[in-house]
Amino acid sequence: MQCTFAVFRFDPAADRQSRYQHYVVSAEPADKILDCLNRIRWEQDPTLAYRASCAHGICGSDAMVINGHVALACQKLVRDFKTANNFVIEPLPVFQVLRDLIVDLRPFFEKHRAVRPYLVTAGENPEKERLQNSENQQFVEPALRCILCAACTATCPITRVNPAYLGPAALLRAFRYVCDSRDTLTLERLQALDNDDGIWGCKTMWWCTEVCPKGIPVTKCLGQIKRLLKKGDAHA
Ligand code: SF4
Ligand code: FES
Repeated sequence: MQCTFAVFRFDPAADRQSRYQHYVVSAEPADKILDCLNRIRWEQDPTLAYRASCAHGICGSDAMVINGHVALACQKLVRDFKTANNFVIEPLPVFQVLRDLIVDLRPFFEKHRAVRPYLVTAGENPEKERLQNSENQQFVEPALRCILCAACTATCPITRVNPAYLGPAALLRAFRYVCDSRDTLTLERLQALDNDDGIWGCKTMWWCTEVCPKGIPVTKCLGQIKRLLKKGDAHA
């Protein structure tokens, strides 16, 4: 069947303003939206710019707006949309457009780095690995599934009004280390999050949870940080 794609185009080096370019693509209902973009690029217009790599929901490269909804282009099929085979494809909101569907994710990764996304331990290194009990592993497991696609942060209404807000993805990563029983920075991590640009920026809107392509209960995980702070664990 024939599908029509209106794709956001913008090259800051050449264009004064953005536009939508229309393409007609032959597609099957089970084709991914990424397949259609590839077909456009490979068969019609090699100048179309977008990110993608694994094509299987693993690398997190191809988050974009498809018919008004943030999603991974490799996870959405043509048949998932009841729009008479008409598609509007746009870049992630919030971030600056570098070209077409590619946005500048440097601020996203800076915030990720700001939460110190690594285990900090004290004392002698063990002979083998640092063991984590299975209960604690299961507790933080949802956060381990994050592929840093930025869909949640781009969707979050707070991120849109407060550029300084860490955003759900960075806070989810913070949860992963705050709650890891092997980490020794817990108090310091909690204190750093105890402000309006940190965990209290989250107003429990649930949009991050709804949009997450990995099914991570992001809002619930962020709630665990709030709970620890309310209990006073950061001020012990
Ligand atoms: Fe993407 Fe989900 Fe991770 Fe957010 S929490 S960056 S939506 S995988
Ligand atoms: Fe890797 Fe979609 S291309 S997640």
